[in-house]
Amino acid sequence: MYTARPSRPLQGRVRAPGDKSMSHRAMILGAMASGETQVEGLLEGDDVLATARAAAAFGASVERLGEGRWRIIGRGRLRSPDGVIDCGNAGTGVRLLMGAAAGYPLSATFDGDASLRKRPMGRVTDHLERMGARFDWSGARGLLPAILTGGRLTAIDHVQSLASAQVKSAILLAGLNAEGVTSVTEPEKSRDHTERMLRAFGAEIDVEDHGEGWLVRLRGGQGLHGATVSVPGDPSSAAFPLAAGLIVPGSEVTVDGVMLNPLRTGLFETWREMGADLTISNRRSSGGEEVGDITARHSALKGVVVPEARAATMIDEYPVLAATAAFARGATVMRGVGEMRVKESDRIRLMVDGLRACGVAVEEEPEGFLVTGGPVAGAATVQTAHDHRIAMSHLVLGLAAGAPVAVRDPEMIATSFPGFVEMMRGLGSDMGLG
Ligand code: S3P
Repeated sequence: MYTARPSRPLQGRVRAPGDKSMSHRAMILGAMASGETQVEGLLEGDDVLATARAAAAFGASVERLGEGRWRIIGRGRLRSPDGVIDCGNAGTGVRLLMGAAAGYPLSATFDGDASLRKRPMGRVTDHLERMGARFDWSGARGLLPAILTGGRLTAIDHVQSLASAQVKSAILLAGLNAEGVTSVTEPEKSRDHTERMLRAFGAEIDVEDHGEGWLVRLRGGQGLHGATVSVPGDPSSAAFPLAAGLIVPGSEVTVDGVMLNPLRTGLFETWREMGADLTISNRRSSGGEEVGDITARHSALKGVVVPEARAATMIDEYPVLAATAAFARGATVMRGVGEMRVKESDRIRLMVDGLRACGVAVEEEPEGFLVTGGPVAGAATVQTAHDHRIAMSHLVLGLAAGAPVAVRDPEMIATSFPGFVEMMRGLGSDMGLG
C-alpha cells in the first residue's frame, strides 16, 4: 500500500517519463521495418517492456543500449513466435501487435494479465477478420487468450463511430501488408502517432478532413525502413505532478520536455478553463513533435463542463482531472466518456467510489460522472483494481486532502510511470509505503 499525506508546498523541476503510445509504436514499427531503428527516451515501463519482448519474439533483434536508449533490428517482416505473446496489462500493446502481425503468414497466441483478459478485443479483431485474418478464442469470443492466423489480407474501408487510436492503428498496421488501399474514418481525430511514425519509417499515408470526420488512407504492400525515434515526455504522465502543483497550496511544479501534440493536450486546455495557472515555456520541436516545459502553480479552480468532443484528446486524463475537480468551486461535468469503463479498469466506477470514500460529492452516470468540489476529507483507503492511473490520481488527491489517502495494489504504477513515488517525494510531497 502507498499513502499520500497532506503536504507542504511542492517545488521543483522534473522530467516526465517517455510517452507510452509512442514507445509501443517505436518497438512495433522497428520490428516490422528492414534494418536498424534507434530509439531514445523510450518509456521503460512494464507495458512497453512487454511489447519489446514481443518484438523480439516476432523475430527482431532488440537491445537496450542505455537508459531509454534501444536498438531494434527488424527483418522487414514478422515471423511466428515460439511461445505465447504475453502483453501483460497493455491494451495498446496487444491491439497494435495483433494488427501488425495479422498481415504476415504466421500464427501467434496473444495473452495478458487478469485485467487485459477482461478487455474487449473484438473492436480490433472483428475488423482484422474482415481483412482476412483468423482468430481462435480458447475461452469467450473477443476475450484473450487468442490465436491469430495471419496473412493474405485485403484492404477495408472502416468508418469508426467512436474515435479510437488503437482501432485505427491496428487496421492501418494490418493494411500495410494488405492488398489494396485501407482507409479509416474517425468522427473526431484521435492521437496520430501511428500516422506520423509510419511516415518517419518511409510509408506514404494520406490524412484529410473529410467534412464528416478524418479520413486516413494507406496503400498496401509498402515496406518500412528503420528510423531514428526520439520519444518526448508523456503528457498523460506529466499530468500527475502538474495536478499536485495545482492543488497543493503554495506549490510551483515544472515538468520539462512534455509532448504538446494537440491530440493529447485536452486536459491542459480544460485545466486552463478551470482557471489553472499553467504556463508553457521553451516550446521546441523534438522527434517530429512539439514539446515544451509546463509549469503549474497552485490555483483557485472552478468547475467546468468538459466538451464531449474533447474526450479523444484526454481520454486517459479524466481520472486525474476528477482528482483536481474535487478541489474546484462548483461542479465539473464529464460526459460522453463511456470508454473509460473499458480501460485498465472501469475508471468511472473506481473514481466515483474512491472520491466518495474521500468525502467528495460525486454523481455517476452510465457514460460519465460529475464531481463537485469542496473540502476533501481524505482519511480513506482506495481500491485501484490494479489500475496505474487510478492509483496515481488518488495519491495526488491525498497530498491536498484533510487526512492521508492510501491506495491498494500500487505496484501497477510501474506500467506507465516507473519512479513516480520517488519523483513526487523529490518535489517535497509526503508520499510513501505504508
Ligand atoms: C492509446 C489510445 C487510447 C488510450 C490508450 C493509448 C494509443 O485508447 O486510452 O491509453 O496509444 O493508441 P483508445 O484507442 O481505445 O481510445
